[in-house]
Amino acid sequence: MKKAYLFYTLLLLTAGMALAYASSELQEGEGMEQPPGEEGQEDALQAFDKMMAVLTHKRCVNCHPAGDRPRQGEDSHYHNFGVRRGEGGHGLPALQCATCHQQENNDYSGVPGAPEWGLAPLKMQWEGLSRVEIARSILDPARNGGRTLEETVHHLTEHELVLWAWEPGVDANGVPREKPPVPKEEYIKAVKEWAVAGAPIPEE
Ligand code: HEC
Ligand code: HEC
Repeated sequence: MKKAYLFYTLLLLTAGMALAYASSELQEGEGMEQPPGEEGQEDALQAFDKMMAVLTHKRCVNCHPAGDRPRQGEDSHYHNFGVRRGEGGHGLPALQCATCHQQENNDYSGVPGAPEWGLAPLKMQWEGLSRVEIARSILDPARNGGRTLEETVHHLTEHELVLWAWEPGVDANGVPREKPPVPKEEYIKAVKEWAVAGAPIPEE
């Protein structure tokens, strides 16, 4: 009984506050078209757009492919030398990623590098997925490596393989690789804003 009483009191209070807020908005003559809260959602969806412009970029998807072969370059062609995923994503025993990929880019040979260089597991494949599908995947513990939202945000904003995308070095011909279309700091801010707003995913 007590619990129910508390619940209804809180409900009334919340409703009252929402009404007060709504009428103050109306008095100011602004936000007429928008019920309160919707603006926040709109900001969150703008943050989503920025974040997904990065996640769908080839600097990420080349390493999150469907199948067992990494992709390379701006046209995402299959990786040279018959490189395959191998066990744990670090290559076949005879041809490990680390044979060529070091802890940092090698701008003489054009081999990109960062710590833990390896192929993302098949569960984390993003190639061929829409941005909405990718977003669902990174929020799904069955596919994202059992991460909570907080852990996913941490990975998205701090992991060295992710941040490499903004320091991608040059290719084997010495041509600089394209960076994602959103500057790093702006992307990091967008990921955090989106998460704080409850990580909303639009219909399309
Ligand atoms: C060199 C390869 C490589 C690149 C480049 C790369 N990733 Fe990954 N990514 C991986 C690997 C390997 C894992 C699995 C690591 C783990 O689970 O700890 C992973 C896991 C993830 C995860 C956690 C799992 C999930 O599905 O939520 C996220 C998020 C992620 N990557 C985002 C990105 C983004 C964003 C970019 C581009 C800005 C990127 N990655 C670029 C290799 C890469
Ligand atoms: C025999 C050497 C060698 C091995 C082994 C190797 N790579 Fe590479 N990799 C390269 C070279 C060279 C490039 C640069 C090609 C270019 O861009 O011109 C490259 C580029 C890449 C790129 C492209 C990055 C981009 O966005 O353009 C990815 C992703 C990648 N390698 C992943 C892997 C993974 C994962 C493994 C292990 C499963 C691996 N590589 C094994 C030599 C190698």
